[in-house]
Amino acid sequence: MSETISLRGRKRTHTCGELRAEDVNKVVTLNGWVDGRRDLGGVIFIDLRDRYGKTQVVFAPQHNQAVYQIAKQLRSEDVISTTGKVERRPEGTDNKSLPTGAIEVLGDDLAILNEADTPPFPIEDEIDTSEELRLKYRYLDLRRHQMQSNLLVRHRMAQTVRRYLDSLNFLEIETPFLMKSTPEGARDYLVPSRIHHGKFYALPQSPQTYKQILMVSGYDRYFQIVKCFRDEDLRADRQPEFTQIDVEMSFVLEEDIYAMAEGLVKTLFKEVRGVDVATPLPRMSYDEAITKYGSDKPDLRFGLEIVNVTELLKGSQFKVFETGIQSGNLICGFNLKGQAGVSRKQIDDLTDLAKSCGAAGLVYFKVSAGSLESPTAKYFSDDQLKGLRESFASETGDLILIVTQPRKQIFSTLGQFRLEVARKFDLIDPKKDALLWVTEFPLLEWSEDERRFAAMHHPFTSPRDEDAAILDKGLEEFRSKKRWTSENPVGDARARAYDLVWNGNEIAGGSIRIFQPELQKKMFGCLGISDEEAQTKFGFLLEAFKYGAPPHGGIAFGFDRLVMLFTGSKSIRDVIAFPKTSSAMSLMDEAPSEVSREQLMELHLKVI
Ligand code: AMO
Repeated sequence: MSETISLRGRKRTHTCGELRAEDVNKVVTLNGWVDGRRDLGGVIFIDLRDRYGKTQVVFAPQHNQAVYQIAKQLRSEDVISTTGKVERRPEGTDNKSLPTGAIEVLGDDLAILNEADTPPFPIEDEIDTSEELRLKYRYLDLRRHQMQSNLLVRHRMAQTVRRYLDSLNFLEIETPFLMKSTPEGARDYLVPSRIHHGKFYALPQSPQTYKQILMVSGYDRYFQIVKCFRDEDLRADRQPEFTQIDVEMSFVLEEDIYAMAEGLVKTLFKEVRGVDVATPLPRMSYDEAITKYGSDKPDLRFGLEIVNVTELLKGSQFKVFETGIQSGNLICGFNLKGQAGVSRKQIDDLTDLAKSCGAAGLVYFKVSAGSLESPTAKYFSDDQLKGLRESFASETGDLILIVTQPRKQIFSTLGQFRLEVARKFDLIDPKKDALLWVTEFPLLEWSEDERRFAAMHHPFTSPRDEDAAILDKGLEEFRSKKRWTSENPVGDARARAYDLVWNGNEIAGGSIRIFQPELQKKMFGCLGISDEEAQTKFGFLLEAFKYGAPPHGGIAFGFDRLVMLFTGSKSIRDVIAFPKTSSAMSLMDEAPSEVSREQLMELHLKVI
């Protein structure tokens, strides 16, 4: 294009999603992208697109020859301005799938505001394009209706969250991104300081310490929709920078946090989906979640509950189980209802599946009228077989699946296997929503590598009142043995921590915090953090707690995960405008990238 084209005098009067039959005979100007062009018998039809929708524009030589000649040059994704009269579409040519489908605009003027190169993939919903290409040309990917609708839902949800929390007197307070490293368990992203040589800021893994300090300052109801940064291994539901709905409250017990969070979930479900969620939500202890569902984020949309039959099957003739039990293994399994008819091949497939989840093998029993059929049935007594039928609440036609493994592994194996089997046999009803609280998490978890305990949630999480004494006992044992062992009683302490789980996804997590310096000191002791280390790392927080810290607690929702679930997206990347790949790269702007020698010199850094 040689001449300079300006928008002056060509600004849109309507969006591309706005015109209806009532607008017929109006002269309108539309601006947007050419979604597609069709030449039909000397007449050119284009769909003009913007984020509000599409409108059909017609250019006919008999109507305006000059404009028709320009229209002939139009290509997909050109940006145009066109003016014309709104007309009723000819009888029988309405497009019922478009809200603007009753009308078309007869183009009387046309300006190509900008030509577009041929896009590397079509701007359509169902595209067969690699995610790499979509991420490299993210601006084009974001033009697609599906992505626009995801970001629209995300926006609505953020506004709903703000309205809800504001109505409950919460204050939205921003906290720094350049901060001192916080101990949330992942690696920090570090930012070197130019002014202070050799010193670094950390990007927050969450605003945990700041929100607790805000409680000390008397802002008893805080929230923030905030970016968090964690340098950790990525999965479909994880990003190195992600967004939390972060909340902290003073003078509260667990019940207050549950009520606030349930209200938020209820409001989001109602406003985004039009669905009523019944509250209070069910609660399950961590122990029950692990032993029944093999996961601390159980998917309760289907059964396949794990049953422990170790006691029942003791003393059988089945060598695999007997030697297992003697070396401390458990025998557990679940009942796959109504699947006794599976073929030999399907049993083999199930066995492979169990193995891929970590099991050494799979034992099965087909429940028939009066007996249990299995190559291994002959090794068990009649009482044991009868006991099996009852333990699994089985009926004729069911298939009982059993594995044996050490206690440490069996639940995670069966947890995975349970999910895989549910998917394979199509047991998950996509229309169901199963929300629940998982409570009473262990306070600490043993790290075999480091031979010490680490905080399961974070070091500021309070033990249950009745378990606080366990810390004293554990510290005493540590002092006398001079080392930590996995058997130390602190391993039994339970935390006042809770997670909110939706269809097998952890959507939020939080805890009631320690607010007394003495207890905090004991907690650090259990984590093997010395007084000096505690002082260097969190001296500011401990100091703040000396000046009247109120009892407090909070929670953080994974906002991206919530949006992913609300939009039914498969990946968290589909609800983030500019996400990173699983190797933490931004393919569009090619971050991370090298920096100049001068930049490094200024920071007193050297790449080795
Ligand atoms: P937590 O670490 O459990 O708690 O995080 C809260 C929620 O954030 C989401 N989430 C993530 N989402 C996407 N990508 C990630 N890498 C990622 N990591 C976590 C999850 C999780 O439930 N400060 C505490 C909260 C508190 O105690 O108040 C915290 O950050 O949905």
